[in-house]
Amino acid sequence: MKTAVNTVSFTLNGEKKTFSTRPDEKLLDLLRREGYKGTKYGCGQGTCGACTVIMDGRAVYACLLYAMQAEGRKVRTIESMGTHDKPAPIQQELVAAGAVQCGYCIPGIIMSATALMEAEKDITDEVAREYMDGNLCRCTGYEKIWVALRKTIDRAAAEPAKKAPKGGKK
Ligand code: FES
Ligand code: FES
Repeated sequence: MKTAVNTVSFTLNGEKKTFSTRPDEKLLDLLRREGYKGTKYGCGQGTCGACTVIMDGRAVYACLLYAMQAEGRKVRTIESMGTHDKPAPIQQELVAAGAVQCGYCIPGIIMSATALMEAEKDITDEVAREYMDGNLCRCTGYEKIWVALRKTIDRAAAEPAKKAPKGGKK
C-alpha cells in the first residue's frame, strides 16, 4: 500500500517554505532530509534534546513532532544562529569556555538557551537550570556549558544598560 504524500508549509529560519511530507514523517526527519542537518538525531524519544528547534518561540523536540504539526508555524533551527565568522554570543561563550567536546548536543543546547533568553527576563540560575534540563550532554559534565550559558545571559542582561543614553532625566 502506498503512503500518502502531502505538503506542509511553514516559515523556516525566516523564509516561507513548502515541503512534501508524509503523515507519519517526523519534523526532525523532514529537516534533515532537506539539508538542515545541524538538528541532530539522538534518542528519537524525547529524552536527550539533541533535536531541539524553536517553534513559535518555544524550544521543542523535533523528534516528537510530526512534520505536519509545523503547518503555518515559525520554526528556527541552529542554521539560523551565527556563522563561523560571526558567531552568536552563546556560540562565542561556548567556545571561550571550552564547552564543546564531541559537539553533538550543542545545537540543541543553543536552541534551548536561545528560547530561554528570548522568553524570560531576569533569568535566575534556578530558572535556567530547569529550562535546560531537557538537554543532555554525555561528554562535558555540564560545568563549562553552564559557565557559557550564564555568561551569555549576563551579557544579554547588560546590553540595554550599555545602550542607554548617558545623562538622561533623573
Ligand atoms: Fe529528540 Fe533525543 S532526538 S529528544
Ligand atoms: Fe558531546 Fe555534549 S559535547 S554530547
